Amino acid sequence: MPKNNYPHRKILVTSALPYANGPIHLGHMVEYIQTDIWVRFQKMCHHTCYYVCADDAHGTPIMLKAQQQNITPEKLIEETYRQHKADFDAFEIGFDNFYSTHTDENKQLSESIFTKLQKAGHITTKQIKQAFDPEKKMFLPDRFIRGECPKCHAKDQYGDNCEVCSATYSPTDLIDPVSAVSGSTPIEKESLHYFVKLNDFADMLKNWTTAGHLQEEVSKKLNEWFEAGLQDWDISRDQPYFGFKIPGTEDKYFYVWLDAPIGYMASFKNFCDKNEVDFDEFWSKDSQAELIHFIGKDIIYFHSLFWPAVLSGAGYRTPSAVYAHGFLTLDGLKMSKSRDTFITARTYLDHLNPEYLRYYLAARLSSKIDDIDFNLEDFTARVNSDLVGKVVNIASRCSGFIKKRFDNCLSMSIFDTALFQQFVDAGAVIAEHYNQREYAKATRETMKLADLANQFIDTQKPWVLAKDKNKDQELHEICSLGINLFKILVTYLKPILPILSQQAECFLLITPLSWSNYQTPLLAHTIQPYKPLMTRVESKQIDAMMAQTKAQSEAMNTENTLPNSHLEKDPISPEISIDDFMKIDLRIAKIVRAEHVKEAKKLIKLTLDLGGETKQVFAGIKSAYKPEDLEGKLTVMVANLAPRKMRFGVSEGMVLAAGPGGKDLFILSPDEGAEPGMKVK
Ligand code: MSP
Ligand code: ZN
Repeated sequence: MPKNNYPHRKILVTSALPYANGPIHLGHMVEYIQTDIWVRFQKMCHHTCYYVCADDAHGTPIMLKAQQQNITPEKLIEETYRQHKADFDAFEIGFDNFYSTHTDENKQLSESIFTKLQKAGHITTKQIKQAFDPEKKMFLPDRFIRGECPKCHAKDQYGDNCEVCSATYSPTDLIDPVSAVSGSTPIEKESLHYFVKLNDFADMLKNWTTAGHLQEEVSKKLNEWFEAGLQDWDISRDQPYFGFKIPGTEDKYFYVWLDAPIGYMASFKNFCDKNEVDFDEFWSKDSQAELIHFIGKDIIYFHSLFWPAVLSGAGYRTPSAVYAHGFLTLDGLKMSKSRDTFITARTYLDHLNPEYLRYYLAARLSSKIDDIDFNLEDFTARVNSDLVGKVVNIASRCSGFIKKRFDNCLSMSIFDTALFQQFVDAGAVIAEHYNQREYAKATRETMKLADLANQFIDTQKPWVLAKDKNKDQELHEICSLGINLFKILVTYLKPILPILSQQAECFLLITPLSWSNYQTPLLAHTIQPYKPLMTRVESKQIDAMMAQTKAQSEAMNTENTLPNSHLEKDPISPEISIDDFMKIDLRIAKIVRAEHVKEAKKLIKLTLDLGGETKQVFAGIKSAYKPEDLEGKLTVMVANLAPRKMRFGVSEGMVLAAGPGGKDLFILSPDEGAEPGMKVK
C-alpha cells in the first residue's frame, strides 16, 4: 500500500471485557476474532496499534459464584483468568495486554474518575427502595429474584421479564417472589445510592452520537433513547459486593459497569508502564490518537452513552469509534447455557483447528450489527473448499515440481506478469475492506483471486509439461508464478490466518509478509520443501465437538445452578403406573470409592459395589458431602438406568438423594442389615 496515501495512525483498540464468571464461548469469539483481524491488519500496514483487554472481575454474580464454590472471589477470578488467557492464546488473539479490572491501576483510575465527576458536580445521591434478601442480608439484582409472571402466571420467572410471554415488569410486580440466593421472600429496603447525572451530558452526547463515531443503525437507535429522556445512572451498590469501595463511604461499592470500561484504561496503563508508552498521548482531552472500542450489540448503551459521558465529565477524550457486532447463533438457534448450543472455546479447541473458525467468521462478518449464524455444514464446506481446496492447494500443486526438478529454487523471471500484477492490484480494495471491517468482502475478493490462480494452473497443466524435457523453462516459470500468487493470497489472508501465514513464510523462506512487501515477485529464490499447511475438516470432528457440548450441558443441568437452586416446592410429577414403577431396579449399593471430579463443581465420582458387580456413578452431591465421608456407606441406587456419557466419563446409574440442594442434600442410606446388591422393594 502506498504509504503516503495513508498517514501513520496511532490507534488504541479494545474488545469488551469478558465476565470472569464463566468460560469463553464461541459467541464471545466473534468479537475477539473480529477485533484481532482488524488489529493485525493495521499492524501489517505499519500503523502503531495497541490492542488491550481484561477480565471483568467484579459484581454480584461473581461474588455469589465464589460463595457457591466455597472459594474467595479473588481465587475464582484468578482461575478464570488463566482459562480465558489460555483460550485467547489458542485462538491467536494478539492482545498487547490482557489484564483484569480487579487491579491497583483500575482502583486508582476508578477512584480518581469518580472524584473528578463529583468535584465537577456530576454526582448526586438519592434514597432508593430495592428488593432485599433478609436471610442473606443483601440487596438482590433483578435476575436473582424469581416468581410467578404477573401477566401469564408462568411460574419461576426472572425479576424483570418473563421468558414465557416476554412481558417486562419490575420485581415488585412478581407474584410470590423468592430470592434465588436463599429461597427467602424478599422484603423492600431503602438505601442511599450514587448517581451520575447523565442529563448534564445531554448536549455533548447528542453531538457525539451523530458525529460519525457510531454505525448508522446504532446512531438511530440511540436517538430513540434520547427521546425517551436520559435518566440519572445508578453507579453504586451496597455491601456485600465484590468490587471497589466508593471513596468517602464505608459500605458502598462502584457498580461493576462503572469500573469495567475504566478497565480499558487500566489495562493500557499497565501496558504503558511495562513498555514505556505514553498513556496520556492516548487518553488526554487533546489526544490525536484514535480510541476504538469493539463491542457486542447488547452493550451499546453502556459504551455510547454512559462511557463517553464519564470520560468527558472526568476530563478525558471520548472514543473515536464504537463498533458493534451482532450475536452468534448456532444453526439458527440462540446460544444458551441450558441448551446444546453452548459451545465453549475449549470444547471447540479440543476438536478443531482455531483458524477454521477465524476464517469462517471472517467470511461471514460485515460492518453491520446483523446476527451471524454458525452453520455447521456451511462451516465444513467453506473451510474445505476455500482454504484447503483453493488456497493451500496452489502451493501443493506447484511445489512438487519446484523441488523435484529445480532443486527448490524459483525461476529467474515470471511467466505472466499481467496475472501477477492483477493479484497485486487487488490489494488496495482488499485493504479497504479490512479497514472498513468488511471481512466477508475481503475474503470473497481473495477467493476470486484463488480461483484465478487455480484456473491458471489448470490451463497450463504443469503435469503435462513435466513429461516434456524441452518444456523445462515453461514448467519452472509456471510453477514459480503459482508459488508467487500463493504468496500474495497468504498476505491477504494473514490478518485472518496468522498461523498458516507464519508456516507459509517458513515454507517460502521470507521475512514476515506485510502490506508493503508483497508487491515484488520472488525470483531465483530458494524455498523449503512443502509440508501440508492445512487439513480438511472432518464431519467426525464436528460430531465429537457437538457430543461433548451436549454432555456438558447435561452435566450442567444436573448440577443445580444458582438462580434456580432454592426454589419453591417442586410440584408432584404426573402419575405413573405400578408397571412403570416396577421397571425401576432399586438396589442397595456400597460406596467403595468416592473421588472428587476435577472441573466439576457439583459432582463426586462413586464406585459402587452391588454385591459382586461394580458400577460407576457421577452424583451431584459435592455441596453436601466430602468424598472421604462417603466411603464405606450404603446407599440406594437405580441400577438399571441406561448408561450416560458425561464429560468426565460414563455414569451407569443414579444414587437416590433427597432435599432442596446445596448443603441440604441427603443420600439415602439404608439401616444396618442391608447387603450390597439387595433389591429394594
Ligand atoms: N463484561 C461485560 C462487558 C464489559 S466492557 C467494559 C460483558 N461481558 S460478556 O462476557 O457478557 O460479553 C463480552 C462480549 O462478548 C460482549 O461484547 C458481548 O456482546 C459479546 N458476546 C457475548 N455473547 C455473544 C454472542 N452469542 N455472540 C456475539 N457476541 C457475544 O458484556
Ligand atoms: Zn409471562
